[in-house]
Amino acid sequence: MILTGNTILITGGGSGIGRGLAEAFHALGNKVIIAARRQNVLDKTTEANPGMASAVLDIEDPAAIRAFAARITSQHPALNVLINNAGVLKPENLKSHEKDSGDPEAMVTTNLLGPIRLTAALLPHLQKQPAAAILNVSSGLGFVPLPSAPTYSATKAALHSYTLALRVQLRDTPVQVVEIIPPYVQTELEDRTRRTIPVPCR
Ligand SMILES: NC(=O)c1ccc[n+]([C@@H]2O[C@H](COP(=O)([O-])OP(=O)(O)OC[C@H]3O[C@@H](n4cnc5c(N)ncnc54)[C@H](OP(=O)(O)O)[C@@H]3O)[C@@H](O)[C@H]2O)c1
Repeated sequence: MILTGNTILITGGGSGIGRGLAEAFHALGNKVIIAARRQNVLDKTTEANPGMASAVLDIEDPAAIRAFAARITSQHPALNVLINNAGVLKPENLKSHEKDSGDPEAMVTTNLLGPIRLTAALLPHLQKQPAAAILNVSSGLGFVPLPSAPTYSATKAALHSYTLALRVQLRDTPVQVVEIIPPYVQTELEDRTRRTIPVPCR
């Protein structure tokens, strides 16, 4: 992937790793659009990076994804890179019968169905670009699961598998497929995890 001159959409680009990627690509001379649910968090990032654009998106909502894809490609017809970065981690105690131990539906919908649906919605547009890329952010926990985060780890293993198949299906198109497997980074993902429940990992 050529690292400059692109128009890049980054989900979850207002915080953590997404913000880091957004600022790095912005500094390299790319047009960057960040998308997530919290407008105030997106605004802080765009204010700190003049020229960066933002759009609200809840990747858990399939209808919102379709409408968003139509809107963003009409506002930014040069869009040629999608970074599927948005994700949630909620620890789960599988022995607990409490309703608030984890939220497997939210993790599967956000971490797996979200990237699958957004990719599907944007692929017709990306395939028309002279050069395009889809970058999926998985995790080392997709390869070696964290016992206190079983569903999160499973979603990342599934995203890894989906990314491999996507790469093969798109090999005769201008769309390159890249998997980013970040190392541990202290972000809101971890803060939220700590705020919920410390689950013993044995
Ligand atoms: N931190 C690590 O050590 C680590 C390691 C490996 C992989 N990762 C992966 O890296 C990615 C970024 O995580 P992070 O560590 O940077 O955590 P983070 O700061 O919490 O970032 C997650 C981002 O996803 C967005 N998001 C969550 N649910 C969303 C939804 N339904 N719709 C749209 N956006 C949503 C959040 O924004 P809103 O809340 O405003 O929507 C937030 O900006 C995740 O996929 C994570 O699994 C992290």
